[in-house]
Amino acid sequence: MYVAFDEWTQGRSIASLGTNAGADELPFQSWRSFKEAYAPELVERAVRESAIPVRRALDPFGGSGTTAFACQFLGVLPTTVEVNPFLADLIEAKLSQYDADALARDLGLIALRAANEEGALNRLAVLPPTFVEPGIKDRWIFDCGIATRIAAFLEAIESLPNDRHRRLFKVLLGGILIDVSNVVVSGKGRRYRRGWQDRTRAPGSVDEAFFTSARNAIGDIHRYANRRELGYELIRGDARCVIDKGRWDLALFSPPYPNSFDYTDVYNVELWMLGYLNSSTANRLLREATLSSHVQISRSFAPPPPGSDQLDEVMANLIEARSKLWDARIPDMVGAYFADLMAIIRQIGRGLTRGGSLWLVVGDSQYAGIPIAAAEIIGALAERDKWVLRGYEPFRSMRLSAQQGGRPELAETLIMLERAV
Ligand SMILES: C[S@@+](CC[C@H](N)C(=O)[O-])C[C@H]1O[C@@H](n2cnc3c(N)ncnc32)[C@H](O)[C@@H]1O
Repeated sequence: MYVAFDEWTQGRSIASLGTNAGADELPFQSWRSFKEAYAPELVERAVRESAIPVRRALDPFGGSGTTAFACQFLGVLPTTVEVNPFLADLIEAKLSQYDADALARDLGLIALRAANEEGALNRLAVLPPTFVEPGIKDRWIFDCGIATRIAAFLEAIESLPNDRHRRLFKVLLGGILIDVSNVVVSGKGRRYRRGWQDRTRAPGSVDEAFFTSARNAIGDIHRYANRRELGYELIRGDARCVIDKGRWDLALFSPPYPNSFDYTDVYNVELWMLGYLNSSTANRLLREATLSSHVQISRSFAPPPPGSDQLDEVMANLIEARSKLWDARIPDMVGAYFADLMAIIRQIGRGLTRGGSLWLVVGDSQYAGIPIAAAEIIGALAERDKWVLRGYEPFRSMRLSAQQGGRPELAETLIMLERAV
């Protein structure tokens, strides 16, 4: 008997299918809290409402793997793309099959081997100086005792012979890093916890958090092993370059929004601590490979695509307001955002079965009082590219970023497109 989709989502009722929909409470989704995930119920709905049977589905912006993992419960073979290597591992850790007993045995080995801390801290020598005590200017993310335990766990995990087990345990260790650190990650970056200097955290809290997370994950894996589809295709890389071939009956995704939110920043602690990044060059290359949705680095931005009067007006207004914007590159970034996204949508169109749908969830933005109605702009550009616009569905309002006044005003919208027959 297959484990049903509803068994995973526990038949819950949720206020919104959009992001921040409480997905963290579900098994697997709590491995690393991922605030920007949409509800798995959206995937179920897209498959159910598709005009054609869905056997294969694509998500070019995998994130925490909601689309791909939900597809496995629904009997749909998922293809997903993710550029961030920590998130790609998080996705693959969820989609893989395991022998739960073998995992439990390896967890025992980790416990034994992580007792040895000798030389473990050496592996953290490549980290930026803010990471480990004594840090820089009296600030550091991890106390020395905590960093030593993390390093010892990493050494123990890397000594395991099974690469799937290594990936899973590394991801789970990644999932507890912020909890044992002196920072919180909110909005677009991280900040120090209030009163962190006065609070001492026992190194053993790493052990406690890691083993609790690992035991829960092994429980999830055991309970939900019998999913209808166990295959998957994970493409690690930049969606703008890698989806040139493939056939899908459905594409469902939520790209980064044009709100200067850089996922490389949000997952920076995991990327460095777990060894995915080891130099500032690697950090820059990763930022360059992400969608043009932020201005964290200088790079060349593609010109805005033609075909939307609304986008033309936004561009003209942003260019006029350039000197008032908190970064003068914002107009170029916004133009390139829509160019990037439309190039991806065009590529998906080439691989989508006739009658297949493309659903995407996107949020509006605002700079210097100039609204960017992302959903309407994408809808208009897609219609010009011969997609049939089936409709928009508002999901919720997002808060404006602190730079923009912090008021709850911005819409998040589901856009439903269909490939013309
Ligand atoms: C809004 S999140 C997706 C969340 C996902 N729907 C979920 O439920 O977990 C967008 C994701 O796109 C990824 N991303 C950004 N630029 C990318 C690119 N060029 N290629 C592939 N993935 C990219 C980010 O790392 C982030 O994980």
